Amino acid sequence: MNQERYLTFALTKGRLADKTLGLLEQIGINCEEMHDKDTRKLIFVNEELKLKFFLSKGPDVPTYVEYGAADIGVVGKDTIMEEGRRAFEVLDLGFGKCRMCVCGPASARELLEHHEMIRVASKYPRIAKDYFHNQRFQTVDIIKLNGSVELGPIVGLADVIVDIVETGSTLRENGLEVLEEICPLSARMIVNQVSMRMENERIRKIIGELKELVR
Ligand code: PRP
Repeated sequence: MNQERYLTFALTKGRLADKTLGLLEQIGINCEEMHDKDTRKLIFVNEELKLKFFLSKGPDVPTYVEYGAADIGVVGKDTIMEEGRRAFEVLDLGFGKCRMCVCGPASARELLEHHEMIRVASKYPRIAKDYFHNQRFQTVDIIKLNGSVELGPIVGLADVIVDIVETGSTLRENGLEVLEEICPLSARMIVNQVSMRMENERIRKIIGELKELVR
């Protein structure tokens, strides 16, 4: 086994990284340095196992992986779909489960049924565009927002939103509902295409061990 080269993991900052580190620990991969919440360090090394880890914003994870700056990434399926980067999606880690949905006030159902020219607000313009144009064959106007997307229909910016629904409480508290489900989401492991060939044995072993844990 080639233990010379470091294998680098890019993890999505926050809950996904915490859960991923928990899983990795269960297969004997740990990185003590990362548990220090106050550290400003950006990259962490496990010298013994020749592994490196860094945390980044979700949308940057597929970018690091496509360019080979990270061999392996852990990121939400929503981000993988939105970023459209080249990488192998190798494993559904089974956590961070939620759904990508079209949501809005109940009154918007009619607009969808009649394929009206509507305004759709989303943090995920690519997913929204793909869904409406290629799956529903409905021409819509997509408006990109950066957060608190539920505001869109409430303040009259958009008719509906395309957003993540986890518990549904944000929708309920704002008088909105799920109108259509686009797809289920969860945390996925992605691998750089060249790394998959060059480090096949090491990467396969990690995937295999994690697969046993999450199934
Ligand atoms: C996400 C998503 C919804 C909410 C859904 O937002 O965009 O707003 O969580 O969760 P729920 O169904 O459990 O209520 P996030 O908290 O990431 O913040 P944001 O709105 O600023 O993007």
